[in-house]
Amino acid sequence: MSSDRRKFLKTLGSASLIGGCANTERAPDGYFKDPEPFIQHGRANLESKLEDQESLLTPVDQFFVRNNDVSLDVPVDTYRLVVEGDAIERPLSLTYNDLRSMPSRTVFSYLECGGNQRAYFSKLLNQAATGTQWGRGAVGMAEWTGVPLLEVLQAAGIQESAVAIQLIGMDQGAPEGGFRRPLPVEKAMDPDTLLVLRMNGELLPKDHGAPVRALVPGWVGSSSVKWLGRIEVSNAEIWSRNNTSSYVLIGDDYLPEGQALGQVANKQSLKSALALPWPATLQAGLYRIYGYAYGPDGPIVRVRWSADGGSTWEDAQLLEPRMCYGWTRFEFSWEAKPGRHTLITSAVDSLGAEQPETIPYNQKGYLFNMRLPHPIQIVG
Ligand code: MTE
Repeated sequence: MSSDRRKFLKTLGSASLIGGCANTERAPDGYFKDPEPFIQHGRANLESKLEDQESLLTPVDQFFVRNNDVSLDVPVDTYRLVVEGDAIERPLSLTYNDLRSMPSRTVFSYLECGGNQRAYFSKLLNQAATGTQWGRGAVGMAEWTGVPLLEVLQAAGIQESAVAIQLIGMDQGAPEGGFRRPLPVEKAMDPDTLLVLRMNGELLPKDHGAPVRALVPGWVGSSSVKWLGRIEVSNAEIWSRNNTSSYVLIGDDYLPEGQALGQVANKQSLKSALALPWPATLQAGLYRIYGYAYGPDGPIVRVRWSADGGSTWEDAQLLEPRMCYGWTRFEFSWEAKPGRHTLITSAVDSLGAEQPETIPYNQKGYLFNMRLPHPIQIVG
């Protein structure tokens, strides 16, 4: 590392470190943004309406919010990011300006809650899952700019023996006194795993974790810890709420792993959804129907659609750009005749994987990704 880069890294020996959040204020209504464009779930969860999205990137004022407590207002001047643990050589306490002067990278990625589409476990499979009953809008796509997490870990002298990293938020009202999520060292050291300072070219908004949040592309949204205050780097695996009892697939089809009650939900699942209300009502006529397809394993290569319950399929037209972690917009023409119809879409990714026709149940309703039947009533 150059001596210039060393200058901004304050090495604090083995002192005990506490993330700087003393002056943190809380949003009185749960969030700072206008809730009007969203479907509201409880005190602090805002679901986007896919039918309102018109461009590749989701504008911040339409981007879903998922909080375990309420949004925080963290002052930049007292902000500190503490890096500690038994698998680093130098504990760090970084200011916002320290982070701003480190190497930066931009990643286009969708961000999706692990529980997106959970409501369809009961609506379509007759098996209710616990948790916020999200429809299809706990997902958004943004341009994220920030410091690769690996830069910070290397500056702290991460050791080869490191196994796990835990990201910890400043929202002390969230479970465990700060929302937290462990990551294996391999995902933490992926150059696309970022400490985000900017979203869609603007300073990161408060509801999305300002001044600094993590982005872990392709993984369940809970990995992308907001209002990031502390990073633990450990020589042993880390088990905490969000990889033992939450964000874990619990059900007959899933084997428990480690200290978890089931299979830990890490990577997201391949999905597609139409940009229409579910269910929809339309006037008869010729429509250009559009939607979004996305998955964690590379760009979407094909989206098929069916208007007859899956007996026959046609290819939708895919719009550019198609990116590794980005969602792909697709569209097709459909002659809507009066009556009740169901459209189904199915996405295929660059590894050749396709959405399944059905999926096994898990108690907390994560990673729902079967081909979604979309009921449409045509009138007139
Ligand atoms: N980080 C903190 N500190 N607190 C939280 O409650 N929620 C997580 C994650 N990061 C959360 C958090 C979950 S479950 C999701 S899906 C994403 O943030 C949502 O990110 P967004 O609100 O920016 O859309």
